[in-house]
Amino acid sequence: MKNILFLILIPFTMFAKKPEDERGIYVKDQHSYSNPAEIVVQHLDLSLKADFSTKKLVGFVTLQVKNLTNADTLRLDTYNLKIESVKINDAPVTFILKPADEILGSELAIPITANTKEVTIYYETSPDAQALQWLNPEQTAGKKHPFLYTQSEAILARSWIPLQDTPGIKFTWTATIHCPKELMALMSCPQNPKQIGNGTYSFKMPFAVPSYLMALSIGDLAYKAYDNRSGIYAEPVMLAKAFHEFTDLPAMISSAEQLYGKYPWLQYDVLVLPPSFPFGGMENPCLTFATPTIITGDRSLVSLIAHELAHSWSGNLVTNATWNDFWLNEGFTVYFESRIMEKIYGKDYADMLNLLSQNELKHTVADMGVNNPDTKLFLDLKGRDPDDGMGDIAYEKGRFFLMALEEAAGRDMWDAFLKKYFEEHRFQTMTTKEFLHYLEVNLLQENPLIKQKVNVDEWVYGTGLPKSLPVIKSKYFDQVEKAAAAFIKQPTVMPDTAGWTTHHYLHFLRTIAPEMTYEKAVALDNHFHFTQIQNSEIAFDWFMIAFACHYKPAYKALENFLNTVGRRKFIAPLYRKAAADATLRPWIEQIYKSARPGYHAVAVKTIDEIFEGK
Ligand code: BES
Ligand code: ZN
Repeated sequence: MKNILFLILIPFTMFAKKPEDERGIYVKDQHSYSNPAEIVVQHLDLSLKADFSTKKLVGFVTLQVKNLTNADTLRLDTYNLKIESVKINDAPVTFILKPADEILGSELAIPITANTKEVTIYYETSPDAQALQWLNPEQTAGKKHPFLYTQSEAILARSWIPLQDTPGIKFTWTATIHCPKELMALMSCPQNPKQIGNGTYSFKMPFAVPSYLMALSIGDLAYKAYDNRSGIYAEPVMLAKAFHEFTDLPAMISSAEQLYGKYPWLQYDVLVLPPSFPFGGMENPCLTFATPTIITGDRSLVSLIAHELAHSWSGNLVTNATWNDFWLNEGFTVYFESRIMEKIYGKDYADMLNLLSQNELKHTVADMGVNNPDTKLFLDLKGRDPDDGMGDIAYEKGRFFLMALEEAAGRDMWDAFLKKYFEEHRFQTMTTKEFLHYLEVNLLQENPLIKQKVNVDEWVYGTGLPKSLPVIKSKYFDQVEKAAAAFIKQPTVMPDTAGWTTHHYLHFLRTIAPEMTYEKAVALDNHFHFTQIQNSEIAFDWFMIAFACHYKPAYKALENFLNTVGRRKFIAPLYRKAAADATLRPWIEQIYKSARPGYHAVAVKTIDEIFEGK
């Protein structure tokens, strides 16, 4: 009986095309020169020497390829790489390095045959390679040794490895890294703790990953484990503080596993970088890279670790096929992050964080304009830098879409759906269309009520914020708002901050910000000493207020902040605000001039654009 049914069904399934069939095995990615429909890299072996005196990585990479269509050319992505030679079976071949595009870099075209299995490229990176930041000892916590780290997402891997730089392709890899003996090298794979101290480190990534998850860091580093699968890497002088701050890490991993399945990457460590790191965190497999600006002493900014950990499923296991599908990485991750936070710290705490983010999202959409095409979840980034897609839309609109689905489906049904989704697509890539198809077949079809409540197309292909945006309430914030109203009315009435966390302060500052005056800033600073505060999130909000009401007593601390912290989320808005104010512009230009050499290339690019008026 079963067989007959099978036979009858064949013709129908043949016509009921799944979106996967439409894209072929690999989706064409507008941000890569590679030709994966013809030929794919399945594995790479990297061998590099880190030369701190010339700020170069020098060495070679061997790519193992699968030629699917007897293609005669392997097309790779490169950015500012110096290609010394290309060899196939030990024989040099004539390659073509095409003229560079400002965003995409240069295509490296290598002639191959149907039988080509391996291609070796000898090359070196440029001293200003976009992914790499070479730090002087003064830019580190210990001040004694130089430091190097990479940031490959979105399309910067090509500035340190010639490869098919698209999230649509996954490969396994090994690497040998040579560095000065006194430094430790780490990469985004399970670490081998035995190989410390001889200047040569070997790495092996047994799981297939996309290029943007290739990462390397070299510095004076030490390790402290929480248990046999998680721990902290940091400069020795930072280690104890960082270890204390992230003490809930093992609990976060177990909570995540309870939600959406076993942690698949064997090991989960956090590497705390120097403060110039341009992001809060980066989900490099097995080894999240994190900014030290979340270390406050009171563990109040650890949701960032929950976020990067969540990427171990959403992003690293099930990966956005192109950067137009970026919300699949980030929206899912913010959603998952929030579920981890709720599990560990309770619903009231999570509500507070969610409401803060939703308020920001509403501001962002209002600023961008409700009809702005960039407020759609599914983006069209053709001809643009994929970095343009990084903002509240992918993250927060994406997250609230999933939250709306959760509310409509009920948590149990939704969690079962998500767990199955991750399980069935592990180590694969995903397009927006494929996700929507999966959602339709596995959830919506059997539950038409969900569709009545949540208009999926409106969320994904529509601009602005849909009617089904979840309503978030926070009892803690109700109290903060009362305190804020009292302060605005009478600036001598200071809030009672007993039990306040970073988030209470942020909500307080954001609520009073539009009403702030110089006098109110003086009163607040006298009471709370915000200008001196070491908490980067609160400091940032305070500095924005300081600019708005020309509160000069904060400017020295602000200048110091801009000279040490390179996290773009903080520094870009500060520069933007000051650059737009004629009375501050010459001063802020000076500060930028001196601080700029200490920033990573992705932050520099954004801030240069601010001063160029783009
Ligand atoms: N994967 C992102 C960082 C990223 C995205 C780098 C796109 C380059 C291009 C990472 O997971 C992230 O989202 N970091 C956030 C922190 C998070 C808590 C929202 C950040 O760095 O601010
Ligand atoms: Zn993220």
